[in-house]
Amino acid sequence: MKKATLVRCVFIFGLIVVLAAMLAPSVQAAPLKTVENLQAAFNGESNANARYLAFAKKADEEGYGPVASLFRAAAKAEEIHAATHAAAIKQLGAEPKADVKAPVAKSTKENLEEALKGETYERDTMYPEFIKQAKADKNKKAIEAFSEAKVAEGSHAKLYDEAIKNLASWKGPRKDFNLCSVCGYIVVAIDFKKCPNCMAPVQKYVKVG
Ligand SMILES: [Fe+2]
Ligand SMILES: [Fe+2]
Repeated sequence: MKKATLVRCVFIFGLIVVLAAMLAPSVQAAPLKTVENLQAAFNGESNANARYLAFAKKADEEGYGPVASLFRAAAKAEEIHAATHAAAIKQLGAEPKADVKAPVAKSTKENLEEALKGETYERDTMYPEFIKQAKADKNKKAIEAFSEAKVAEGSHAKLYDEAIKNLASWKGPRKDFNLCSVCGYIVVAIDFKKCPNCMAPVQKYVKVG
């Protein structure tokens, strides 16, 4: 090869390397929408945890012991969801971020209604949309995290609804609820061997009162 040709080749190769380096940031895959959704879910669950603990305190003050217990069990469930979402966020190379606002507790009846509204939105709107997107992004961990949270929120909504409809009977001392420590599903009584949501063995259930 002639010297001039060699110089030209080295120059062109160098140019390609420089151009590739310049273009690299723009050709990197855009962050998955699912990461954004996981962050939104992590933020929502973290705030729900704080809110339910404040609602539990209020329910105790108003003499609704079983409602306070339910809020404590649900607060624990939301903490479990937040941890699951955080793990999925980290797996995708991001850092979980939440902006936990100071919760405002109203009357227990109003708190139950607010909680039911939140759970219903997550069960019927938010998580179904996030699951759809996670499937499009082919992220198995996010699909699982969103799916398990969705069904668990359904179990919370069901119990909040029961309390709202028959609030007078939810006065009195605290009572135990059974919480799946894996997925946050809550039941009054255990009549199964495996969690109906995540299929974990029943031994994974803990009592929260
Ligand atoms: Fe919930
Ligand atoms: Fe479970």
